[in-house]
Amino acid sequence: MAELTFKITQATSTDYRAKDNKDIRVLVVGSTGYIGKFVVKELVKRGYNVVAFAREKSGVGGKASKDDAIKEFEGADVRFGDVQDMESLRAVGFAQPVDVIVSCLASRTGGKKDSWNIDYQATMNALEAAREKGASHFVLLSAICVQKPLLEFQHAKLKFETALQAAGDITYSIVRPTAFFKSVAGQVKLVKEGKPYVMFGDGRLAACKPISEADLASFMADCVKDSSKANQVLPIGGPGKAWTALEQGEFLFELAERKPNFIKVPVALMDGIIGFLDFLAKLFPGLEDSAEFGRIGKYYATESMLVYDPERQEYDADATPSYGKDTLEEFFRRAVKEDGMVGQDLGDAAVF
Ligand SMILES: NC(=O)c1ccc[n+]([C@@H]2O[C@H](COP(=O)([O-])OP(=O)(O)OC[C@H]3O[C@@H](n4cnc5c(N)ncnc54)[C@H](OP(=O)(O)O)[C@@H]3O)[C@@H](O)[C@H]2O)c1
Repeated sequence: MAELTFKITQATSTDYRAKDNKDIRVLVVGSTGYIGKFVVKELVKRGYNVVAFAREKSGVGGKASKDDAIKEFEGADVRFGDVQDMESLRAVGFAQPVDVIVSCLASRTGGKKDSWNIDYQATMNALEAAREKGASHFVLLSAICVQKPLLEFQHAKLKFETALQAAGDITYSIVRPTAFFKSVAGQVKLVKEGKPYVMFGDGRLAACKPISEADLASFMADCVKDSSKANQVLPIGGPGKAWTALEQGEFLFELAERKPNFIKVPVALMDGIIGFLDFLAKLFPGLEDSAEFGRIGKYYATESMLVYDPERQEYDADATPSYGKDTLEEFFRRAVKEDGMVGQDLGDAAVF
């Protein structure tokens, strides 16, 4: 049976890769997110037959209407449904045969329940529908931080990754990016206004190799046809060096032509706040996510978004692959000198 499954996987993936891009149908779920939007546009640019699956009200705060989504995704077939509803996925998303499914789904809040609902269950729905309908390949937007899982959303993502790898009848590319530009852009405006840059410890506790949304979308689009990326877990960062918070802050002050002014927050203070919120959450369950958001904030302040070497128990910038052409230097320069923050919408959860 294992041999049969292997043969099916090989055959179907080979078949669709031999077709012209225009004849390859790619369904994108999570199409309306920060990365999903770029992925849809990149796939359209490459000439694929793209189906963008969206909610009727999408985007941050559900502010985008059906018309907005249709306008945004010119060249794609925009279909409206709900990834939390299998029937909607089957009947709308997979109404015609799909070769490749790309998931950019993610909880918009990072809250515990929502992470399990979206990063795990809704993405599982997409996988199950894809397998039922005979799709060949699944490209997943995951996160590099799942390699050292301490947070609920990381466990939800890992559980899905495991299910995808075990499926056997569909090939996969699991893309684990480092930090997005939006996640390191949160203090640009403050520095421009002459306010201090806030960091944890001495600002050297963690580093990342940020990747732009366009470069990440391009990497994900490569995964559609590049057979060397099939059945792979792919950590990926942007071009250039790894940046600590201190280095980012120093560079922003230089660009803004202001004297460096840092607020250094002791990590122990964060631990105290998380402990207090955990205690309150026992009395008031509604506060459970507040403690989780505290943990997410601490995680990003203290854990690097780089490939982790479990043997040495160290993050390794050199082992973290680089892709693309957009550098953090250029992004910060534009963000400080011009209005380079356009499109860098932090979303519902200001911690991502
Ligand atoms: N931020 C970083 O630095 C970073 C780094 C590496 C990896 N990541 C990972 O990247 C992912 C975040 O990507 P992103 O910023 O592009 O996400 P995002 O902008 O929050 O988009 C999330 C997508 O999922 C959909 N979605 C969320 N909740 C839904 C629900 N209840 N029902 C249906 N659809 C729902 C959204 O649809 P609507 O538009 O309809 O809401 C949207 O299309 C996360 O998995 C994160 O772990 C982030």
